[in-house]
Amino acid sequence: MSQISRGLENVFIKTTALTYIDGDNGILRYGGFDIDDLVEHTSFEEVIHLMLYGDLPTKVQLQRLKTSLNEAYEIPQQVIDTIYSLPRESDAIGMMETAFSALSSIYGEMWNKNTNKETAIKLIAKASTVTANVLRAKEGKKPVIPESSDSFARSFLSASFARTPTNDEVKAMDAALILYADHEVPASTTAALVTSSTLSDMYSCVVAALAALKGPLHGGAAEEAFKQFLEIGEPERTEEWFKKKILEEKSRLMGFGHRVYKTYDPRAKIFKRYAQKLSERSNEARKYFEIALKVEELGIEKFAEKHIYPNTDFFSGVVFYSLGFPVYMFTSLFALSRTLGWTAHVIEYVEDQHRLIRPRALYIGPLKREVIPIELRG
Ligand code: ACO
Repeated sequence: MSQISRGLENVFIKTTALTYIDGDNGILRYGGFDIDDLVEHTSFEEVIHLMLYGDLPTKVQLQRLKTSLNEAYEIPQQVIDTIYSLPRESDAIGMMETAFSALSSIYGEMWNKNTNKETAIKLIAKASTVTANVLRAKEGKKPVIPESSDSFARSFLSASFARTPTNDEVKAMDAALILYADHEVPASTTAALVTSSTLSDMYSCVVAALAALKGPLHGGAAEEAFKQFLEIGEPERTEEWFKKKILEEKSRLMGFGHRVYKTYDPRAKIFKRYAQKLSERSNEARKYFEIALKVEELGIEKFAEKHIYPNTDFFSGVVFYSLGFPVYMFTSLFALSRTLGWTAHVIEYVEDQHRLIRPRALYIGPLKREVIPIELRG
């Protein structure tokens, strides 16, 4: 008897040396390094090296990687024009999908073990340019290409807002990039893997991943979580909102729950620390952090017995909002970071474990029927 695993729960589709998750104990490691240590002691560029080359870089290797990133921010004018040709009210992830489709038609090359990693580095750099320009196009600002700097996060923030970011802002952005960089094989990475299994190009894999990331049950949750805080509006309204929305109307509490974590998501703990620190810079941000804390408390009180706790998207929105990003950009910021995980996983799959992904569906319709000519069907 064939078994169906709804939602592919507990189905393993590859081995990986990239990310280890212990969902019962709230442990997340990239290449064996605890996520807290990576955020505390390394940069996103070091994590790129770790994911693509299997270890943290030496100083020389890091400098080489930074140079490669700095040299790859440029994207063809036609792709910039494509982003700017879309209506300003377009969905930000949809705009990224469009831009990456355009990039795939230009850079979509065959897989090659000698160049796959450099392709991934270039793709990640171009993701920074695409994301910054999606924001700028939506805000009615002129296009920019990120400038070379000592930090991917710094170049991205400078390009996005056309001003020099503070070191605290760069550190928070860098932490967010590390925290969202990979998470094994969620829906978006699986979509990328399915696409790579046909040997479609790396940019097309990212288009597929972006499409899967967009939904509110996956990457879209950070926006949905923060919209809850906006809807609540004032900390003293939190209890009333929770009672009506979550307890009476039984809406899902966005930013809570996870297929793998059955305890507090370790990324949420780190995002919470950054949210607290950054939100101190403005009254509005502080208010939303306060609301988030109250929702968190009520959520844990209600859902802990079902092992439903805050996930990474619960506090990340407060960090992004405090950095000055509009809510509609939150999923795109997640995507920018996750281009690393997507590309690292598809390289791991295509280079070492490749096989066409082609599952089956168990047929449950009528076994055999005779075709009745249309004039006799009544
Ligand atoms: N609020 C209320 N109830 C919840 C929540 C939630 N956030 N999450 C799960 N549940 C409940 C379900 O109602 C269900 O209850 P039941 O058994 O009484 O019917 C039970 O928990 C199991 O829910 P499933 O949807 O089957 O569990 P799944 O493993 O698929 O859930 C998911 C994972 C989709 C992330 C879910 O927790 C959810 O919808 N959360 C809100 C959206 C969200 O925050 N997504 C971001 C995930 S992290 C990321 O993608 C980066």
